[in-house]
Amino acid sequence: MDNRPQWGTRAGFVLAAIGSAVGLGNIWRFPGTAYDNGGGAFFLPYLFALLTAGIPLLILEFTIGHKHRGSAPLSFARVRRGAEWMGWWQVAIAFVISTYYSVIIAWAMSYSVFSFKLSWGQGDTVNFLVSDYLKVAKAGEIGSLVPGVLIPLIITWVVTLAILFAGVKKGIEKANKIMIPALVVLFLIIVVRALTLEGAVDGLNAFFKPNWDMIAKPQVWVAAYGQIFFSLSIAFAIMVTYSSYLPKKSDITNNAFITGFANSSVELLAGIGVFAALGFMAHQQGVPVDKVVSSGVILAFAVFPEIINQFPALNGLFGFLFFFCLVLAGLSSLISIVETFIAGVQEKFNVSRKLAVSVGGGLSALISLFFATQGGLNFLDVTDEFINQFGVALAGLFEVVFFAWFVKQLNPLKQHADAISDIKLGAWWKICLSVITPIVLGYMMYGKFKERIV
Ligand code: PFF
Ligand code: NA
Repeated sequence: MDNRPQWGTRAGFVLAAIGSAVGLGNIWRFPGTAYDNGGGAFFLPYLFALLTAGIPLLILEFTIGHKHRGSAPLSFARVRRGAEWMGWWQVAIAFVISTYYSVIIAWAMSYSVFSFKLSWGQGDTVNFLVSDYLKVAKAGEIGSLVPGVLIPLIITWVVTLAILFAGVKKGIEKANKIMIPALVVLFLIIVVRALTLEGAVDGLNAFFKPNWDMIAKPQVWVAAYGQIFFSLSIAFAIMVTYSSYLPKKSDITNNAFITGFANSSVELLAGIGVFAALGFMAHQQGVPVDKVVSSGVILAFAVFPEIINQFPALNGLFGFLFFFCLVLAGLSSLISIVETFIAGVQEKFNVSRKLAVSVGGGLSALISLFFATQGGLNFLDVTDEFINQFGVALAGLFEVVFFAWFVKQLNPLKQHADAISDIKLGAWWKICLSVITPIVLGYMMYGKFKERIV
C-alpha cells in the first residue's frame, strides 16, 4: 500500500513499546511515589489507574496508529483536519523531554564508570548534581558544563541517532531486542543481590506497609494517574507512532495488555530492589528506613553512590550494574521520544528519514547542551515538572475528550481493534475513556491550576 516502514516481528514491536515505557520513571520515580502515597495501600489506586486509564489509553493509541498509519499529527489530522495541532503539541512535549532526558542518561553513563573507581564527589559531576541539588550554580560558573558530562552526552546522542538512522526494523527493533532482555536480566541480578543485604527486610516492610488512610486523599489518586501516564509513555505521541509501523494483522489489545503489565512488573521489581537497598543503608547508619527514603535524581545520584560505597563485596560491579541499567532503560525511552518527533517532521515536510534524524535529533542534541551546564541544571527540574503536570495530563485530557466526545470515534476504533485482536473490547473500555478518565484528568487539571493561581 505504501512504503511505510514496518516492524519485523510481533516481539519486536512489543519490546520497543516496553522499551519506551520502561525508563527512569520506573526505577527512580515509582518507588518513592508509592512510598509517599500510602505504601502498600498505594497499589489500590495504582491498579485502578492502570486498568481504567493506562491500558485503555494504550489500546486507544495503538488502534489510532494502526488504523491511520501515521505519527500523531498525521493520524489525528486523518481523523479530523483541525486536530493536527493536538498531535504537534504532543510532539513538542516529546521534543522538550528529549533535551533533558538525554542529559540524565549521560550522568548515569558517567556514574557507571565512577562506580569502578568508587570515587564520587571528588570535584567531579557529583558535587554539582548533589551538593544542595539545584542550587548548584555559582555566579560565574553558570555557563560552563557540568564536569564529565560532555563525552557521555555525545555518546548518548551518537548511539541514539545511529539507531534511528538505521530505521525502524534494523535500528529501533534490533536495539530493543538486545537492550530490553539485557535490562531485565541485569536488573533481576541487582534486585536479588539487594534482597540478600542486611536490613533488606526492614526496607521492604517500610515499602509495603499499607497506610489505608491515604487512599481517601485525592492527591494520592492524582499521583497514581500521573505515574501511570508518565510511565506508560501515553499522551506523548509515542505509542501512536510506534503502532503506525505495525503490519495489518496485529493483535492490538493483547499487545497493550502485555506492555502495560510488563511496565508495572518492572516498577514493582524496582520498588522491591530500591527499598531493599534503602533498608540496608538505614541498617548501616542505625536509623529507621524513613530517614533515608528519597527518589529521583537524589536517589540515583546521591543515595545510591553511598549505598554502593558501603556494599559488603563487589561494590564496583554492583554500582556499575545499577547505573548501566539506568542507561539501558533511559536509552530505549529516548529512542522512542526522538522517533516521535522525527516521524512527525518527516511526514509533514516529506523529507527523508536521514534528514529528519539529522536535523531534528541534531537540534535536540544542541539544546541538551544547555541542560548540561551548571545554570541549565536549575531549569531541568522545573521543566520536567511543568511538562509532566501540565503538558501531559492536558494532552491526555484533550485526546480522550476529542475521540470520545468530539469525533465520537470510540465505536469505529473498537471495531477496528476487535477485528484483529483476540481479546474483544467490552463496554468497560468505552466507559473508562469517555467517563472515568476525563473526570479524573479534569479534576487533576483543575487542582493544578488552582494550586498555581491561588
Ligand atoms: N515512560 C518512561 C519512563 O517511565 O521513564 C518515560 C518516558 C518515555 C516519558 C518517553 C516520556 C516519553 F516520551
Ligand atoms: Na515507565
